[in-house]
Amino acid sequence: MDAQAVILVGGQGTRLRPLTHARPKPIVPLLNRPFLHYQLALLRQHGVTDIILSCSHRVDDIRAALGSGADAGVRLRYVAESEPLGTAGGVRNAADLASGRLVVLNGDVLTDADVGAVLRFHETRGSRTTIGLTPVDDPTQYGLVEADARGAIRRFLEKPKPHEITTNMVNAGVYVIEAELLRRIPADRPVSIEREFFPALLADGVPCFGVPLGGYWRDIGSPSAYREAQLDLLRGRVATQVTPAGTLRDGCWIGAGARIDAGAVLRGPAVIGTDVRVQAGARLGPLTVIGDGARIARGARIEGAILWERVEVGEGAVLRDCIVGAHAVIGAHVDAAPGVVLEAGAVVPDHTRLGR
Ligand code: GTP
Repeated sequence: MDAQAVILVGGQGTRLRPLTHARPKPIVPLLNRPFLHYQLALLRQHGVTDIILSCSHRVDDIRAALGSGADAGVRLRYVAESEPLGTAGGVRNAADLASGRLVVLNGDVLTDADVGAVLRFHETRGSRTTIGLTPVDDPTQYGLVEADARGAIRRFLEKPKPHEITTNMVNAGVYVIEAELLRRIPADRPVSIEREFFPALLADGVPCFGVPLGGYWRDIGSPSAYREAQLDLLRGRVATQVTPAGTLRDGCWIGAGARIDAGAVLRGPAVIGTDVRVQAGARLGPLTVIGDGARIARGARIEGAILWERVEVGEGAVLRDCIVGAHAVIGAHVDAAPGVVLEAGAVVPDHTRLGR
């Protein structure tokens, strides 16, 4: 079953600010690997290796991080919109390179869904558009997809009132679409896939199905979800072929060239990047990611935190359940509360209490 894939990577990533000021959402690091590596590995695992990235802004950053895709065992091609065309417009923009059956992914969903099973479901139902579904706790915040027992979609409900709720299944940002349907999407204006394209297909009687994805699924688009996704990876809750760089010792991945003083304490699960320096008396982990080239001074405590590359953490600083952008300099005895997110290049003076 040959299929190509389109990954939508043209969004602004506003919810993930300030992290997305420094780097577009599709390539923010998860366990020190660009996020899209997880999606590329998933597609390759299910035999989909011809992949089109539908970009809008910052295409050069994305291309610099992923190149031809050869490292990930796939063939990547890039299309770029001059103006954002929305989620359907982004797929439409890839149409010249696409034919046959397309797997379409939102470029911000970490999942280990069985893409092969979704393709088989699409085939056996005679579907033309199949939407992967995932359950949510609070359906009032989402676009719900109501389907019958065979999965045929009956209707879409955008942010329903409590009395309108008939299902807790939402669009998971994973689709199979027959490429010839893309011609229906107007090319000259932004079009939303979930609010305009799918409802129009349904209204015109095109067979549309929904299928629960099963497995792990999380939209990484907010800082808390971005951090939680990495904790889930560290806990082994996501089946992925992407592993952190380095070697695994006592639950900690240690990158090449890392120098950790014998008087420092490491508690796994954790990932320590390449060339990291950790001084005596520092305590790292559990559930911590330290980016490449970071410097951690004596007595610092870092737990549940995600640090991007080349962060410097001063003596005795405490970072718990927070995120620190690349090249940030954290002064001595800084105390960062859970939920703090520091922009790349931030400089925090000694003894500052953040978020308390
Ligand atoms: P927020 O601004 O935080 O909501 O994030 P976002 O801009 O990524 O929007 P959203 O999460 O709704 O987007 C879902 C997926 O579609 C993401 O992977 C986006 O990169 C992608 N996307 C959103 N808008 C466009 C667009 O206009 N063009 C393209 N090519 N992709 C888009």
